[in-house]
Amino acid sequence: MIVPMTPTLPTPILTATAVEKRYRGTPALRGVTLEIATGELFGLLGPNGAGKTTLLSILAGLLDADAGSVTLFGTPFTSRDAAARRGVGLATQDLAVYPELTARENLLFFGRLYGLGGTALKQRADEMLALAALTDRANHRVGTFSGGMKRRLNLAVALVHGPRLLILDEPTTGVDPQSRNHIFEQVRRLNAAGLTVIYTSHSMEEVQALCPRLAILDHGRVIACDTVANLLRRLPTTGRITTGQAVPQTLPGVTALRRTDSGVELDAPDGPTLFAALRHWPGLEMAALDVVPPTLERVFLQLTGPALRD
Ligand SMILES: Nc1ncnc2c1ncn2[C@@H]1O[C@H](COP(=O)(O)OP(=O)(O)O)[C@@H](O)[C@H]1O
Ligand SMILES: [Mg+2]
Repeated sequence: MIVPMTPTLPTPILTATAVEKRYRGTPALRGVTLEIATGELFGLLGPNGAGKTTLLSILAGLLDADAGSVTLFGTPFTSRDAAARRGVGLATQDLAVYPELTARENLLFFGRLYGLGGTALKQRADEMLALAALTDRANHRVGTFSGGMKRRLNLAVALVHGPRLLILDEPTTGVDPQSRNHIFEQVRRLNAAGLTVIYTSHSMEEVQALCPRLAILDHGRVIACDTVANLLRRLPTTGRITTGQAVPQTLPGVTALRRTDSGVELDAPDGPTLFAALRHWPGLEMAALDVVPPTLERVFLQLTGPALRD
């Protein structure tokens, strides 16, 4: 029996403790512990195969963990917990909409699965069509839709029953930039209105743009979980100097010196240390100095390593 972790966030909506999952003996999740606060827009970032979809499937009650536990809305949660499952909306990575049905028919179908009906469901379907900017395509078959329209409908379907927690699994796969922006805006708006959101992506740029706090999953483990600001603070400040001069072996406070085609790149714990170090470079003549801003992409590569993932 695993004892759930003591909550560290004020009001967790979800807690995963030491969650493990194997597929035919091969581990996909190797002890995932995670806590998400009510009202958060939380990012789950990881390369392909990291275990993101497996974890979300467990958090949405589609799969059960082999070991470990999940607490959802304050009570222990498994796939048999139908009432708690209704509180979750999952927009799956593989589109869950029917191409033979129209956009409205899809919404009505999924609404009925959740026990909605009558005028309340019709009204809800209209609201969701508006949210997905599909009102004027409501009676068109989904099979005729672009990738962006299908993704927008997939999001609307995940929301039709009014969940408290929205889980998005790579919601911008195969969409054009306009649809991507539309999805971003809706996610921000829904979160500002109080909905808790877990936003999953392999795109560091997307997660950095949307999510104040995130976890990085790699090989089935959480290798970092923090605010974007704190994760970026872990990186050194990098200065790129264009100079034809010989480069010194060391400089005080500089943690790494790399020669480049046009000069040198140096890392220091922060900007002031970097500039102080340059004063110790006798007779430095530089043509240009660029300070390279830290990005989540660099944090991610530093943590996960350069090896290619499939
Ligand atoms: N149904 C399945 N059967 C067997 N292996 C699976 C299945 N689903 C996922 N896996 C494997 O589990 C690992 C994690 O996959 P997944 O959760 O889909 O990761 P991600 O969503 O981060 O890309 C991968 O190695 C994947 O090949
Ligand atoms: Mg996935």
